[in-house]
Amino acid sequence: MPIFEGLGSGGEKTAVVIDLGSAYTKCGFAGETGPRCIIPSEVERPGHQQPIKVVQHNINTEELYSNLKDFIHMLYFRHLLVNPRDRRVVIVESVLCPSLFRETLTKVFFKHFEVPSVLFAPSHLMAVLTLGVNSALVVDCGYTETLVLPVYEGTPILSAWEALPVAGKAIHKELEGMLAEQCTVDTESNAGQSLPAVVGSIPEEVVEDIKVRTCFVSDLQRGLKIQEAKFNLDGTTERPAPPPDVDYPLDGEKIVHIKGSIRDSVMELLFEQDNEEKSVATLVLDALVKCPIDTRKALSENLLVVGGTAMLPGFTHRLLAEIRHLVETPRYRQVLAPKAFRLHSPPAKPNCTAWLGGAIFGALQDILGGRSVSRDFYNKTGRIPDWCCLSPPHTEPVYSTRKTPPPAMKRSYSTEK
Ligand SMILES: Nc1ncnc2c1ncn2[C@@H]1O[C@H](COP(=O)(O)OP(=O)(O)OP(=O)(O)O)[C@@H](O)[C@H]1O
Ligand SMILES: [Mg+2]
Repeated sequence: MPIFEGLGSGGEKTAVVIDLGSAYTKCGFAGETGPRCIIPSEVERPGHQQPIKVVQHNINTEELYSNLKDFIHMLYFRHLLVNPRDRRVVIVESVLCPSLFRETLTKVFFKHFEVPSVLFAPSHLMAVLTLGVNSALVVDCGYTETLVLPVYEGTPILSAWEALPVAGKAIHKELEGMLAEQCTVDTESNAGQSLPAVVGSIPEEVVEDIKVRTCFVSDLQRGLKIQEAKFNLDGTTERPAPPPDVDYPLDGEKIVHIKGSIRDSVMELLFEQDNEEKSVATLVLDALVKCPIDTRKALSENLLVVGGTAMLPGFTHRLLAEIRHLVETPRYRQVLAPKAFRLHSPPAKPNCTAWLGGAIFGALQDILGGRSVSRDFYNKTGRIPDWCCLSPPHTEPVYSTRKTPPPAMKRSYSTEK
């Protein structure tokens, strides 16, 4: 529990801040510098060998409700160890989160856990809050997708979002295929056996561990040569010399030989252009093209990269090099004037940056009260308004007896509209 809880806050306890990602949930208290826990977004189910992912969009509402209920229960009673009824909740959500998911999650919080209020805060906007600037072009490369959203003067430019389903999940799939095809395993009795023959399919957490421990993003020149050699099937292009092979111990006794050529090439998936000529780097430039012309300079000079996949060694360096390379190509030279691209280094690890923004926002207690949706409002209307639709009548502070928001809050609403 936060040490100075209650001091100067009029008795209101610090809010709980949750970033419910499709792979990992970051959870902790407002006003703290990092989450208390980062755990897989999964619940155990009797009768299922594998844990079930909580963030699923293709299951029925009852099942989703039950999974979310058990997961949130685990967060409060195994990790945070606080009473849900005592604290407001800030949920850091992706702007692409389906309505059914957020409505079910709201129902779980209000009807099952009876929390006093809930606020859904857009993750890209929260990430910008950690920088102390108002405008940034935010790239979130997490697990299911890479999502680019520009935020200008504190307002997300929703019409300019760009996304591509390449991030951690796609890398795991590619890496699993490469490992199965190219790697051999030594066991106590036999050496040089094929991987699928020994272990069948490789569990995703093992693939992830191999990725994090052994793979890296090549620099631009090297990456372009690797791509050229891959797609030039006549064999005329020579591939750059791969890094050394690595031995990875599986179960303690089996040793997997991971080829150097896998280590430096699997991440090319992020930067290869697909059939529609899209890659993680083109998303940034395409989003910029969609923004009003007078916002582009401010945005290009304030790039912010968040999400766990951005923690791969060499990722940000390569992204910046790709952007600078692409902006000089005929495709963008005519349409984009800004040539200066600069990256921020946020005060938290990329996978926790959005959470930290939520924790900063959650610590602004007066504003939080005005922005949150109270249980009373939800019980009366059954609705959970969007971030941009929140207005004072919906959001009467649940702890204070004050009926009207203070002048500072009124001002902030009027500038929002
Ligand atoms: N240190 C690291 N190095 C490389 N990759 C990492 C590292 N830490 C986490 N990742 C990868 O980042 C991904 C998870 O990132 P993140 O926590 O941002 O996703 P998420 O928020 O759960 O997903 P999403 O935002 O897509 O819903 C995983 O694929 C994980 O393997
Ligand atoms: Mg995320």
